[in-house]
Amino acid sequence: MQKHWSRRDAIRALGLSIGAATIPSISFAKDENQQPILLPNKKLSLDKPVTAITCGAGNRGNVYGGYSLAYPGQLDIVGVAEPIAIRNERYMKKHDIKPENSFVTWEDVFKRPKFADAIIITTPDNLHYGPCMKALEMGYDVLLEKPISPSEKECRDILALAKKTGRIVAVCHVLRYAPYFVKLKEIMQSGVLGEVISIQHLEPIEHIHMSHSYVRGNWHNSKETTPIILAKSCHDLDILRWLTEKPCTHIQAFGNLRWFTQKNAPAGSTARCTDGCKVEASCPYSALDIYYRKRQRNYVFDLPEDKSKQADYVMEQLKTTNYGRCVYKMDNDQPDHYTSNILFEGGLTAAFSMEAFTSYEGRRTRVMGSLGDVVGDMTTFTMTDFLTGKKTEWKQESDGHGGGDWRLVTDWINAISKHDPSLLTSTIDASIESHVMGFMAEKSRMNKKVMEVKL
Ligand SMILES: NC(=O)c1ccc[n+]([C@@H]2O[C@H](COP(=O)([O-])OP(=O)(O)OC[C@H]3O[C@@H](n4cnc5c(N)ncnc54)[C@H](O)[C@@H]3O)[C@@H](O)[C@H]2O)c1
Repeated sequence: MQKHWSRRDAIRALGLSIGAATIPSISFAKDENQQPILLPNKKLSLDKPVTAITCGAGNRGNVYGGYSLAYPGQLDIVGVAEPIAIRNERYMKKHDIKPENSFVTWEDVFKRPKFADAIIITTPDNLHYGPCMKALEMGYDVLLEKPISPSEKECRDILALAKKTGRIVAVCHVLRYAPYFVKLKEIMQSGVLGEVISIQHLEPIEHIHMSHSYVRGNWHNSKETTPIILAKSCHDLDILRWLTEKPCTHIQAFGNLRWFTQKNAPAGSTARCTDGCKVEASCPYSALDIYYRKRQRNYVFDLPEDKSKQADYVMEQLKTTNYGRCVYKMDNDQPDHYTSNILFEGGLTAAFSMEAFTSYEGRRTRVMGSLGDVVGDMTTFTMTDFLTGKKTEWKQESDGHGGGDWRLVTDWINAISKHDPSLLTSTIDASIESHVMGFMAEKSRMNKKVMEVKL
């Protein structure tokens, strides 16, 4: 519902003239890239912490688990399922988990009677459905990483079971909790831009990030995981749907894999960057340069704690895992550029682009309204009033997910402790539509047809 305030009242109420807002951070709260996670500013007071079992102690399992170390009075991790022994051990140690509550795989957790309030599902994309359905059947509340599932039918099954059991399923559409997007939505819905006519939204993946995750990494093959429009951009479809507060009626998409293919492999390149590649020194995707010399994105390797052994260990990984393979000689199929046009109810349109070939990450959004516009880059946005020409800037400290990761956890804990899903903005009900948009975008891309989006 749009609030019809006077524009001056709205600008005052939205606090835009204040300019910058900051949120605190603490030293040990770090994401997988060792970047500080911004802390939530909401204070919860609970009688006892919510207890949870993590399925999948990889990067995301550690980001959410880290919350319990910062706020032990709110969240207590009491169990873990993780097949990689070193990850399982490290997670147990970090969270002081009893040996009997450590499991090799998610299935084992559910062989035991329910022993916690909630399950955190941070397993790979194709292993969300199993643990989520089982958790709901057994009466657990759930924190579910996106994508809900790579299959539309499974997404709908999870929604149906969540409704039937009345349990809370929070989907990790973390951008909904990022202060930047929360403010942008407030502005769009306040009426200060007049009628919102259209949106242009860009997701620059950044070329090395693309090569790491979608050429060499876990999501390089859409058939084994999820098409990139869901694996990467379900956040963006979701944020557009959420910002507009309007159902999507139609979507059309184009995109393909242009660059990271065999035919673009330079002469002299080898199967692995460690095989004496002749062009390694001039290749922006050299695994030796990224992982070994610059030590970027080493979190995927489970480095030994002894620092003197880390370099040799990384080199060994480059010789044995996909991370050392030539980006032009992988079995990847994810598009490296993807555009979609979206029609929302009432005629509002959005143009969305996901781009691999950028030197920067984050999001860029332009909102065009009848009385004003907004230009933003996920930390700062500027609103211009067409009548007065006045520009108002709003700035927010940010992290990899705009500060949304731990804010989501706070709201999830609050919702569980009060048995009230309305305290969350990314419940399964609210999140499913953007997944359907993603499935339809992919159908459109494959069949070159405009697709209707129906819930
Ligand atoms: N919300 C976001 O912005 C965001 C960001 C990155 C990833 N993700 C999603 O989060 C999920 C996890 O991604 P990640 O980057 O942490 O990957 P990851 O590979 O680091 O972690 C996944 C973990 O699950 C474990 N696992 C595999 N099989 C298992 C089983 N049978 N039982 C229990 N654990 C098992 C793996 O060994 C691994 O440690 C994926 O679905 C991914 O798409 C979401």
